[in-house]
Amino acid sequence: MAEPFKIAIAGLGTIGVGTLRLFESQRELLEARCQRPLIVTSVSARDRSIDRQINLDGYAWFDDAVGLAVESDADVVVELIGGSDGIARQVCEAALDAGKHVVTANKALIAVAGTELALKAEAANVSLGFEAAVCAGMPIIKMLREGLAANSFSRIYGILNGTCNYILSHMYETGREYKDVLTEAQRLGYAEANPSFDVDGVDSAHKLAILTSLAFGSVVNFDDVYVEGIRHISSLDIIYANELGYRIKLLGITEFSDNGIFQRVHPTMVPCGSPIAGVEGVMNAVVCEGNFSGTTMMEAQGAGAGPTASAVIGDILDFANGRSARTFGIPANSLSKLPGVPMEENRSSCYLRLMVVDRPGVFADIAAIMRDQEISMESVLQRVKAEDQTVPVVITTHDTDEAAIQRALKSIDLLDSVKERPTMIRIENTSNQ
Ligand SMILES: NC(=O)c1ccc[n+]([C@@H]2O[C@H](COP(=O)([O-])OP(=O)(O)OC[C@H]3O[C@@H](n4cnc5c(N)ncnc54)[C@H](OP(=O)(O)O)[C@@H]3O)[C@@H](O)[C@H]2O)c1
Repeated sequence: MAEPFKIAIAGLGTIGVGTLRLFESQRELLEARCQRPLIVTSVSARDRSIDRQINLDGYAWFDDAVGLAVESDADVVVELIGGSDGIARQVCEAALDAGKHVVTANKALIAVAGTELALKAEAANVSLGFEAAVCAGMPIIKMLREGLAANSFSRIYGILNGTCNYILSHMYETGREYKDVLTEAQRLGYAEANPSFDVDGVDSAHKLAILTSLAFGSVVNFDDVYVEGIRHISSLDIIYANELGYRIKLLGITEFSDNGIFQRVHPTMVPCGSPIAGVEGVMNAVVCEGNFSGTTMMEAQGAGAGPTASAVIGDILDFANGRSARTFGIPANSLSKLPGVPMEENRSSCYLRLMVVDRPGVFADIAAIMRDQEISMESVLQRVKAEDQTVPVVITTHDTDEAAIQRALKSIDLLDSVKERPTMIRIENTSNQ
């Protein structure tokens, strides 16, 4: 057998320990697949005294993760600490500067500093792997960078966050409200105690920025992603969406146009019959629209120790086998700086839910606002109750400029008869899957 391939792991939480466990249980198979021993030589975490339910005796322990990156004898440093800056970034930079390959599951870091890290890796002639950073068990990085490399892409979209998909799926199945389902998701371990990165769409935006760079050969530009989360979605919206033939999903969508790259994350109504509408629970899915491949959809578990460790070790196997790909498909110094398309330039049909007092003339006021903004309505649903009670009025529009919809929502919100902030959900055509 050839020389051993040596591995150092920084971070021994859910994914770090999951990675060690996978090495332990799959050692023979992994070594057969790279024809050399794979040896974890050293590890680092904050607190050595924690019982991690795994035997760490055989590994050199580093209190300082940057020390591990520089001083360990590893060929690859695996960063499993997390965070877009601070220690995680220092570990990756130090390892690359020391001429070591880096594997990370850290989407926040790659979304914020991916281009700089790729430049460093390429300057040092080593590889930077981040398959685990986007949708964990789904090899979407490889698919875009290698399997579908012959294609130009017009649009890529997907369900990039399992927590949000669990909450929206469960609201659909049970008719329960967002807060109630979130609490249950936290109890089951599907949502963090502080869920804001997930439910406010930031986690999806991190992943989307990475996919955009791979798909369009552009610098990673997280700052240009429009982000809207799912907190405002009510069970009423889910019921009305269903009546109208849609499911509500938190989608990340990236598109290439003459004006630049348009990246957005927001709750989206997708036609019930389209495959992405059927992606339920904690599952993730990504749809790639290639000009020669046609539409390709991949669905997988997007988080958890097993799927994420699987992706981490997939990258390690590549490096142990001497396989390397350019970080974002093309040399990092030739990634383009295409402008970001602002959300105001979006054009889509929309769903609006207005909670209004049921009395004569109310709908005429709403219709006048829509007319003034040149918004064409496609359908209106109104449930009749006793006069002067609050009732939902649900409107869908034909394709409309985002700016016009926003102006209309502002005016509608000012009407005396409108009792809650209007809810608007964009409708996306996903039926060409
Ligand atoms: N969890 C998932 O399902 C999932 C899925 C995909 C990607 N990821 C990504 O994987 C990474 C790790 O996530 P995780 O869930 O495993 O996190 P975690 O359970 O919170 O573990 C983080 C680990 O980092 C260690 N750490 C923190 N600060 C450190 C420092 N200054 N020096 C050395 N070690 C330090 C912690 O040490 P102590 O244990 O001593 O406190 C802990 O072992 C993150 O980037 C995350 O976004 C996670």
